[in-house]
Amino acid sequence: MAWYKRQRRFFAPVVAWSLTAGCAQGAMPDDQMLAPYGGYDGLSRITATFVERVQKHPRIGRFFQDADGERLSAMLSDQFCDLLGAGCKYSGKKMLDVHRGLSIGTADFNALVEALQEALDAAGVPVAQQNRLLARLAPMHRDVVQR
Ligand code: HEM
Repeated sequence: MAWYKRQRRFFAPVVAWSLTAGCAQGAMPDDQMLAPYGGYDGLSRITATFVERVQKHPRIGRFFQDADGERLSAMLSDQFCDLLGAGCKYSGKKMLDVHRGLSIGTADFNALVEALQEALDAAGVPVAQQNRLLARLAPMHRDVVQR
């Protein structure tokens, strides 16, 4: 125990560093830029909550019945981090390819955005920061909604 106490000042930052998650494709996210989201770790928790919400959602839950929730959450974390210019490079499928043929309508799109807002609210992300992210997601409507 005495040995650990002596080494603590060295080990504590090493342990904290090794617990910090990186982007899925290996880059390191800029936690300063992601501060309103609680860093990349906070953003990952938000996307996990968001995925849980859409999976249980009465209107759009059916779309996600066979979805790989873990992959979806990881891809969304990187995509949001990328869109916010915070260091990750989105490495998932193209928006048009992944959503093609799902017959997603505007009401489905709006329900998903609302679920994201709820997850951001629950995490205490300020509204101005929420709007920054939502503004970057809005143009994706044309690749996601096909009816
Ligand atoms: C701005 C809006 C949206 C964004 C940014 C988005 C983003 C994504 C991303 C990043 C993936 C994972 C791609 C990959 O696995 O490589 C994905 C998959 C998927 N999305 Fe979306 N999406 C949006 C809207 C929607 C909507 C409105 C629906 C349905 C209501 C939907 C249904 C799905 C489904 C079913 C999958 C496949 C999940 C799986 O099979 O594992 N998405 N989306």
